[in-house]
Amino acid sequence: MPHLIVTTRENKEQSVSGKAGATVMEIIRDAGIDELLALCGGCCSCATCHVYVDPAFAAALPPMSADENDLLDGSSHRNETSRLSCQISFADALNGLKVTIAPED
Ligand code: FES
Repeated sequence: MPHLIVTTRENKEQSVSGKAGATVMEIIRDAGIDELLALCGGCCSCATCHVYVDPAFAAALPPMSADENDLLDGSSHRNETSRLSCQISFADALNGLKVTIAPED
């Protein structure tokens, strides 16, 4: 089963199984990691699903939309690896993807 490796804000690393077609946000949330608030439920309007993505997977990620980019601009914790996890559809090519949950804004 493809999996994600999630690092929490307490720096704990956890491997979680994910199925293709779900978003990275849904996979993290469904694994019971509740610090990823995902308040808007994946509508790309809250930015509480902000994660940092391992740059090794940058080429395999879906492109960033203008809306996602604008929302991330509103975060004081944005860096060059920032993404909104609800905007990343999980796929077999992302097996082993490492994401770190960004600090809360
Ligand atoms: S869950 Fe709200 S922007 Fe991702």
